[in-house]
Amino acid sequence: MGGDIPDTGREKLPPPRPPPTHPNPRSLPAMHTRTKLLPLALALFGLGLVAQAAPSVENWENHCAKCHGADGKGATKVGKKLKLRDYTDAAVQAKMTDEEIIKAITDGVFEGEKEKMKAYKEELTAAEIAELLAYVRKFRP
Ligand code: HEC
Repeated sequence: MGGDIPDTGREKLPPPRPPPTHPNPRSLPAMHTRTKLLPLALALFGLGLVAQAAPSVENWENHCAKCHGADGKGATKVGKKLKLRDYTDAAVQAKMTDEEIIKAITDGVFEGEKEKMKAYKEELTAAEIAELLAYVRKFRP
């Protein structure tokens, strides 16, 4: 007969593939996470830099204010005992040269053998000391 539709084995064909979807949707949230981490990483990097060199206001508070006062007047309990100079006094500021200020902070202040103020060269970098000079000058009226 030959009129029969030949068995093409249709039913044996592999099932049709599912229609192509969005390329792997799971990768999208991952991409978002990565872009969110970048600013965070930059922020942490920034904090690291701040931790290395403290701003002068912080150094003044931590190292100097207990004697010279947060306001630079030297009117603290220790400051009065040590007869510290008032950095908000224009005459006091006029008497100090930049070099003297840098030297006092770097090498300390001595009266003969007696240490009146300790040296900060071990604790502060030259850059931090230069910033403290600017900080001392800011008390000038
Ligand atoms: C223990 C108290 C004490 C601390 C802390 C201290 N100083 Fe002094 N400082 C003194 C004394 C005392 C003198 C000497 C004052 C004098 O000439 O009789 C002095 C002197 C100075 C001078 C020289 C000018 C002047 O007034 O005689 C500068 C500038 C100065 N200090 C800045 C600083 C800075 C900046 C810090 C912090 C990094 C600091 N001091 C921490 C006690 C202190």
